[in-house]
Amino acid sequence: MKLLGLTCGRRHSSNEILLKEALVAGRAEGADISMIRLLDLDIKPCTGCITCVMGLGNGGPGECVIRDDWHFLHEHLLACNGLIVAAPVFVLGAHGIIKILADRFGPARDIAFRTIAKKVRAEKGLQKGKGVDERTFHHRVGGFISVGGAITKNWLSFGLPMMHLLTFPSAIKIVDQIEITGAGRFVNVVLEPQHIEKARRLGRHVAQAMLKPVEQIGWMGEQTGVCPVCHCNLLTVFTKNPVECPVCGIEGTLSMEGDAIKVHFSPGQIAMARGTFAGEMAHVEEILNNLKFFEQRPDKDEIEERAAAYKTPAFESFVIPPPDTVK
Ligand SMILES: Cc1cc2nc3c(=O)[nH]c(=O)nc-3n(C[C@H](O)[C@H](O)[C@H](O)COP(=O)(O)O)c2cc1C
Repeated sequence: MKLLGLTCGRRHSSNEILLKEALVAGRAEGADISMIRLLDLDIKPCTGCITCVMGLGNGGPGECVIRDDWHFLHEHLLACNGLIVAAPVFVLGAHGIIKILADRFGPARDIAFRTIAKKVRAEKGLQKGKGVDERTFHHRVGGFISVGGAITKNWLSFGLPMMHLLTFPSAIKIVDQIEITGAGRFVNVVLEPQHIEKARRLGRHVAQAMLKPVEQIGWMGEQTGVCPVCHCNLLTVFTKNPVECPVCGIEGTLSMEGDAIKVHFSPGQIAMARGTFAGEMAHVEEILNNLKFFEQRPDKDEIEERAAAYKTPAFESFVIPPPDTVK
């Protein structure tokens, strides 16, 4: 059982040390461990070309056309049974590489898109070319280590929620997540046995969950969180109920008991969270319905001509070219 660690902190610094502790603890539970330093890779931002999704729609493998180390990382992700990600908090959120990877992996690795691709391939009887890699459909578990320099926890607010963006499309079941505060310029995390122990416990949890049948995998972390699915503490609050978990996209009912805030999420909502197969499928159905609606628009043939206007000097003359193309 392969347990893969991804880190994007400084080499040999706090994030990496906590991840190594988690992985080594996982190895003691029987996992075959490995680690990738994301900042050593060449990973470019998604350009939004949607070749991956269009390819999946035609029964293809959903590979990204950008030539960089995405393919190397994708292969390691497909090969693993468990994943632990350690990311520093930069400006309240997880390191930018996490969002870049979330964008690159989101549609391309989406479990619903990939299921549809498989179905299309079977229906069309396609033999030529590659289809979706079957390892896509293996169940995987994971854990997150979010590391901030601040002592005040609200300086880490979007660290863990942003890490979920990396894993929910491929339905990786997160079983534990931890926040480590006060890990700034110095590698002082080595002086904090409670932080090291938290990381080890997370590593053990992920490795233990890897060995369990899917139906027995549940939350093993200490932080219960307001949302029963992602266990984060974020809520979108409108003027009245329902409230929403912005990570999972599910609705709950907020109530006060004395000064205690209770949020109830129904089993039906929980079952439709982003990151579940049903939740991902509902999103894909919405996209497909939108396409059907678009097809019926009487003015859709005007798009090309209307959009062409924005390529003319009237709308292009003020665009500053990037420095290497300035003559
Ligand atoms: C650009 C930048 C922004 C940062 N913003 C935050 C922040 O908003 N909240 C926080 O707790 N720490 C912040 N930090 C501190 C980092 O989270 C901390 O240095 C990092 O987790 C240390 O990890 P490493 O030693 O493994 O590289 C920031 C650091 C940098 C370089």
